[in-house]
Amino acid sequence: MNAVNNIGVARPRIEGQAKVTGRARYAADKPMRDLAFGSVVVSTVARGRIRDIDASAVKDMPGVLGVIDYRNAPRLNPEAGHFFGPDGGLQLLQDDVIPFAGRAVALVVAETLEQAKAAADALPVTYDEEPHDTGFTADHPNARPAAPLFDGPEDIGDVEAELAASAVVVDERYHTPEEHCSAMEPHSATAWWEGERLQAIDSNQGPFFISTVLATLFSLDFERVRVRTEHVGGGFGSKGLCGPQLVLATMGATLFRRPVRVTLTREQVFLMTAMRPATEQPIRLGADANGRLRAIQHEPAFELSPLAEYIEGCTELTKTLYAAPAIRTRNTAVPLDILPPYSMRGPGAAPGSFALESAMDELAERLGLDPLELRLRNEPDVGPVSGLPFSSRNLVACLRTGAERFGWATRDHRPRMRREGHLLVGTGMAATSFSVGAFPSVASITAEVDGTFTVVIAATDLGTGARTALTAIAADALAIDTERVQLGISDSELGPAWSAGGSRGTTSWAWAITEAAARLRDQPRDPSRPVTVTVDTTQLLNDLPSMERHAYSAVFTEVSVDPATGEVRVRRLLGMFAVGQVVNPLTARSQVIGGMIGGLSMALHEEGVRDQVSGRHVNADFAGYHIAAHADVPDIEADFVPDYEPGIPFGIKGAGEIGNVGTAAAIANAVWHATGKRQRRLPIRLDRVLE
Ligand code: MOS
Repeated sequence: MNAVNNIGVARPRIEGQAKVTGRARYAADKPMRDLAFGSVVVSTVARGRIRDIDASAVKDMPGVLGVIDYRNAPRLNPEAGHFFGPDGGLQLLQDDVIPFAGRAVALVVAETLEQAKAAADALPVTYDEEPHDTGFTADHPNARPAAPLFDGPEDIGDVEAELAASAVVVDERYHTPEEHCSAMEPHSATAWWEGERLQAIDSNQGPFFISTVLATLFSLDFERVRVRTEHVGGGFGSKGLCGPQLVLATMGATLFRRPVRVTLTREQVFLMTAMRPATEQPIRLGADANGRLRAIQHEPAFELSPLAEYIEGCTELTKTLYAAPAIRTRNTAVPLDILPPYSMRGPGAAPGSFALESAMDELAERLGLDPLELRLRNEPDVGPVSGLPFSSRNLVACLRTGAERFGWATRDHRPRMRREGHLLVGTGMAATSFSVGAFPSVASITAEVDGTFTVVIAATDLGTGARTALTAIAADALAIDTERVQLGISDSELGPAWSAGGSRGTTSWAWAITEAAARLRDQPRDPSRPVTVTVDTTQLLNDLPSMERHAYSAVFTEVSVDPATGEVRVRRLLGMFAVGQVVNPLTARSQVIGGMIGGLSMALHEEGVRDQVSGRHVNADFAGYHIAAHADVPDIEADFVPDYEPGIPFGIKGAGEIGNVGTAAAIANAVWHATGKRQRRLPIRLDRVLE
């Protein structure tokens, strides 16, 4: 069957016009009859117990239907959880215990949003406070090994002996703060009952998975719960969970027997939805005088909540990027009285790469070697820890092409050598990998009698262009034009499917669609009747040979630093990416540029500040929590080297998160090159430049 080659063609988003004209409806936009609104009340103390919630004080306020708190809330199943096991973060309004500041303590339901908000603001809540601990350090007495769910501890060779035999050693410690996903669309859910069936429209990254969590939580059969998610305004990890908005809206719908909508305020998005935990990362690198690595030791610690297991797997790149005879990694978790952390924009890899790629730059400095050359000299033949072959590895192509386009060859590698007027100017680079692959998903394709094909899968489009990519993939898999494809996504009823997460959405969904198309084409068909084929990729994925499968990138940047004010401006940012076959160059470029802006933001701006006295997050808004704005972002160049992932249909890898990884280290390295001062703590604030 000849392909039509829709894959690889740049196309604008299918729903682009609907979005820019306001016709596209997000979770909070859907009109609905008899809709009531819930407003969330959150704890102002970081630890303790609720002494009293005086619901009688607000029950006669205009429009108020009632108050839900731990005394009247539906009972939830404590076994409900996520990827990491049972999740106490889901157990909202179940008891009087306050585990962190920002925990929901009540939902006020009223006829209008304004009435709900007014009553929520007026609701008297008092607490019996207990001493809290929100102070994160790697050597905290509660520190314990991270759960080895993935990115488990590794130990090859003899790190101490190799370090002792090294000509040059780097032994440094890197810090990253709490960071918040900050999707543009706040989390919103509307839930209602249709007879015995619970229905919800929710802002999330994967409606099927979320529907199973919701069903478990409320002890319902999976068939009795349907979650839909049409348009989503970004997730960045924070919508990968069954969110508090959905749990609380379901409680409201259950108690008041009408549709209830809960939309978090921006502050509540900060206080209640997933954040990246702070990390502290000691690294030791040892190398020969010629720059060959002898030892890599990376032992990060991250904070978490005792409510929910999680791992910020900071050592993934440490096991992938460079060859060394001795490599040792350990992840340490420090439980504190904080919001349970969860995946955010390149979880683990983003903070881990800041540490590793900063340390590599320091090693190059001490060796008097070009940092690009240091990377090239340590290119591994097989997985440095696993010993497994790489399925494809085009890091060197990214490094060389990027260096050439950037004009790296003329760089003077000594710091503080370039001045333009009063500004110091420097350049920096970093290398990156990001693991790729697919997770089981179910797709159905119906050959309709009119010659069109209906393709359905419970995928989600977070705004990245998933609809457009899957339409091209389905068309090529069916060898037809895209006009004949009708795509249905965003509905848990379409069957199990992986979420838009882990950089594995497109790959997972494309696999199921491709396989369904292949089986449909083999099917004998009566053209006067529609025929449907449904495929589950679970078995196919089990048969995929175990290999080191990664995407790669190299990031180059130029910064200027004002030595009088400490202001860092990123002037140029260039990323070269090896992300497999690129499905849609237009949206893929947009995706990696967005990631690089996220990395720039991580380098210079983003920092959740927690007041240790109150235990509260004190900059829970966009005035206090800075994110790169247009004025912070230079002209960005991003491009793809030829790449193809063997064993995966159409050679696709993921491009979702790799853009976010590497950029922060490249910028920190450029700031050192400009100023001669290392930045081992993010963000690179003015005061840290001036210190
Ligand atoms: Mo992403 S942070 O894997 O949702």
